[in-house]
Amino acid sequence: MPKFDIDQLTEPAGAIEAYLSDYFDQRDLPANLRDAAKYALLGGGKRMRPILVVRCCEAVGGKIDTALPAAAAIELIHCFSLVHDDLPAMDDDDLRRGRPTLHIATNEAMAILAGDLMNTMAFELITDKVENPKLACELVRELAIATNDMIAGQVYDTIPCFPEGLSDLQELQLIHHNKTGALLRCACRMGAIVGEADESQLTAITDYAAAIGLMFQVVDDLLDITQTTEQLGKTAGKDLVQGKLTYPSLIGIDATKQQIVELQQQAHEALDKLKVPDNALRDLCDFMATRSN
Ligand code: IPE
Ligand code: IPE
Ligand code: MG
Ligand code: MG
Ligand code: MG
Repeated sequence: MPKFDIDQLTEPAGAIEAYLSDYFDQRDLPANLRDAAKYALLGGGKRMRPILVVRCCEAVGGKIDTALPAAAAIELIHCFSLVHDDLPAMDDDDLRRGRPTLHIATNEAMAILAGDLMNTMAFELITDKVENPKLACELVRELAIATNDMIAGQVYDTIPCFPEGLSDLQELQLIHHNKTGALLRCACRMGAIVGEADESQLTAITDYAAAIGLMFQVVDDLLDITQTTEQLGKTAGKDLVQGKLTYPSLIGIDATKQQIVELQQQAHEALDKLKVPDNALRDLCDFMATRSN
């Protein structure tokens, strides 16, 4: 039995989903584009990134309401990245979150355009909802850098172009650090920033985020070969078929599991430096290390 209650940990998910849904309902858009974006945004998903925004904000003493715009924005970027990741030119997947991917449910043009919309809507939403202009600018900068790093990571993953002299493991770390780590780090940092973290708190949260950011994709690689399509809600075994560079393909299953435990420990050590006994972040890390989808 896990020692944490995942429903309690992810309790803000409902508020985040309602916030996103309301934002799209009040925004003037063609009905088919609104429906496509809401399909990609609101049908399932673990909401790990927005939950991290909220829980990191709380960990440094902030309130959930101040975290909602950044939480909604990071989920918008994440869902944009998933819609484009699934396109035929990328991973060519037809199942996501237990349902047809957006380009299957609509068409490729709509999936490209709804992805574009979610990307820029994240920045529109922050500038619309964050009243303090200095804070809004800081969040936009964090999110823009992370989004560009995610895109760089998708290029390393899909159209490799690495700096000279890297080992296979260094190349793999570069892919994962960018394609997945960047948004998870950004989620944690934005939460700490809206919670008005001091320098040492922001450093501790950033160290925590770096560990869980890499860990999250190592777990994703492992689940791709250990779980079924039904369990994942997305096509299992894709990485092998597509010849992706992953932790299990490079170092094997046992060493991958060991790597997950080491990154989990690194995240815990970073939290020790936060000096606030924050069980939510510890429990979220443990959930992400041991999740089954
Ligand atoms: C899937 O992310 C893509 C990766 C970056 C590994 P999640 O596992 O967080 O997907 P959802 O949001 O829960 O569907
Ligand atoms: C996804 O990596 C990373 C991003 C979407 C940026 P994967 O391609 O491994 O994610 P899944 O397995 O399709 O969710
Ligand atoms: Mg991919
Ligand atoms: Mg994929
Ligand atoms: Mg994957």
